[in-house]
Amino acid sequence: MKIDNFKVEEWFNKYEHWAKYDLADTCVESLSVNELLALSGADVTDIFNRKLNYGAIHGSDRLKSAICSLYSAQKQENITVTHGAIGANQLVMLSLIEPNDKVISIVPTYQQHYSIPKSIGANVELFFLKEDENWLPNLDRLSEVVGGDTKIICMNNPNNPTGAVIPDDMLKKIVEIAQKSNAYILCDEVYRGLNHSGNPFSDSIADIYDKGVSTGSLSKTFSLAGLRLGWIAANADIIDNINRQREYNTISVGILDDYFASIAIENKDKIIKRNLDKIKFGKSILMDLANQEPRVQCI
Ligand SMILES: Cc1ncc(COP(=O)(O)O)c(C=O)c1O
Repeated sequence: MKIDNFKVEEWFNKYEHWAKYDLADTCVESLSVNELLALSGADVTDIFNRKLNYGAIHGSDRLKSAICSLYSAQKQENITVTHGAIGANQLVMLSLIEPNDKVISIVPTYQQHYSIPKSIGANVELFFLKEDENWLPNLDRLSEVVGGDTKIICMNNPNNPTGAVIPDDMLKKIVEIAQKSNAYILCDEVYRGLNHSGNPFSDSIADIYDKGVSTGSLSKTFSLAGLRLGWIAANADIIDNINRQREYNTISVGILDDYFASIAIENKDKIIKRNLDKIKFGKSILMDLANQEPRVQCI
């Protein structure tokens, strides 16, 4: 299967490990294992007796139940655990998209959201966000392009790279537009939980739409990209379908990753507070430097 080069990842591969100052990192400063344990106060003695077998295939009950706590309406049967959000997005697309399907990809976004559908042979239409619309989807334009034959809308909220967060009432309207075509919505929610003001969590697509598929991970909101642990949340039929595809590519995630991920999500309030403090501090430095409102809206 031919696929376009993943440009941002190639760029990172080239520069990120020797850069003295990395201003391009997309995660909040990572936690060490010691920091995670200190912050959570977790007793980890039980892990040393664990046999290093494959573990729970779709994710441990403990982890899936922790992931459910990030949503308002998801149960364990609605979750499958993946190799990062990158693995989650790929599995969703490989499971739901077929050649000649019409795919709307809202851009700018993470390149997976248009290059994978294109490599599958789908007809990908790019829907451009605009700076003068605060990088939020223009609903009139969106309802013009989402026609009866649209199979899936691929989007990312909060958005990388713009930082824009779709307000909850606007997300509901996007769902109404998708419903007219009975289209799926894949919403990459890897930054969900880091909104700067009010509730750090915006609504999740999986909680408000039966055909909404949410992908998330420990990389950004939890500062644990090294665990390489993500998930998919969606209705149980979609998850069953995805798990059929997943048997060929994952088996299970590492049991140590599953274990530390559970601890992290169980302590989400502490980690998110730490991260929001860091984000606010970084933002204040930028604001001082620019001495003006940033041109892009930050999450
Ligand atoms: C929008 C978006 N989705 C997915 C990913 C991949 O995340 P993960 O490290 O969980 O695989 C990234 C990484 O930068 C991202 O920015």
